[in-house]
Amino acid sequence: GKVAVLFGGTSAERDVSLNSGSRVLAALQRQGVDAHAFDPAEQPLDALKGYDRAFIALHGRHGEDGTIQGALELMHIPYTGPGVLASAAGMDKWRTKLLWQAAGLPVPAYRMLTAASDFAAVVRELGLPLFVKPACEGSSIGVTKVKTAAELRSAYQEAARHDSLVIAEQAVLGGEYTVGILGSGDDMRALPIIKIEPATEFYDYEAKYLRDDTTYRCPSGLAAGQEAAIQAQALQAFRVLGGRGWGRVDFLMDDAGNPYFLEANTSPGMTDHSLVPMAARVAGLDYEALVLQVLALAAN
Ligand code: DAL
Ligand code: MG
Repeated sequence: GKVAVLFGGTSAERDVSLNSGSRVLAALQRQGVDAHAFDPAEQPLDALKGYDRAFIALHGRHGEDGTIQGALELMHIPYTGPGVLASAAGMDKWRTKLLWQAAGLPVPAYRMLTAASDFAAVVRELGLPLFVKPACEGSSIGVTKVKTAAELRSAYQEAARHDSLVIAEQAVLGGEYTVGILGSGDDMRALPIIKIEPATEFYDYEAKYLRDDTTYRCPSGLAAGQEAAIQAQALQAFRVLGGRGWGRVDFLMDDAGNPYFLEANTSPGMTDHSLVPMAARVAGLDYEALVLQVLALAAN
């Protein structure tokens, strides 16, 4: 049947989504799928009525946060990736933390910030450096690595431009990693872990998409037992949110080798710089095979 590849949209991650979606569309068409571009910023959702399935290559608000998923539920169109609850929870890094803490999963220490927060106390509690981020954003948009107490207020103000919920998070400095997840129900599995070594201060928007000096290690270099244990925790983290189909769980490691889970991405990037395609390739799945599997798991 006819497949709509949903991309573009109106979020701050529109450009990333245009990149992801055009690649997904081309890969599906190369495989003989009757796939068509659908940009929710330009086309009314009513126009989806003629499609049999939707491949969601949208990132951020109104694409990855449960809203488009809810619309597709109402239209009875199967769509890729997690459903309404997991999408909404995964978009919100604060609620994600609350759910993961309740499930006993390790997360970095954090405080919610408001304009009235005692910034000096937050610095005392979390130490420096620390990260300030909007709760509901992606691709590190609005995120600042704060190295001195004097920078905290402006970092808060920058994050608050993107979301009313702002998080200050302890920096865990033993390395940045990510785990791709593919499959639904009992067949859900973790892809090989990727270790990310940005040439910048942290894995920010530039390091993610614009620079070519980020080093990606996959295999990650972790010992096999440790890799398997963290993959199992990442799967649990994804399941706690209600994830299905595919996704990606990001974590930091401390110097003792303990993971601290940061967030789940329920519509992971599919650009030429993106992580899930990289991990899938190491697992023996090329880009075409990956998009076909994700599409085959579309549900409603
Ligand atoms: N939010 C971006 C697209 C990612 O996680 O890959
Ligand atoms: Mg994210």
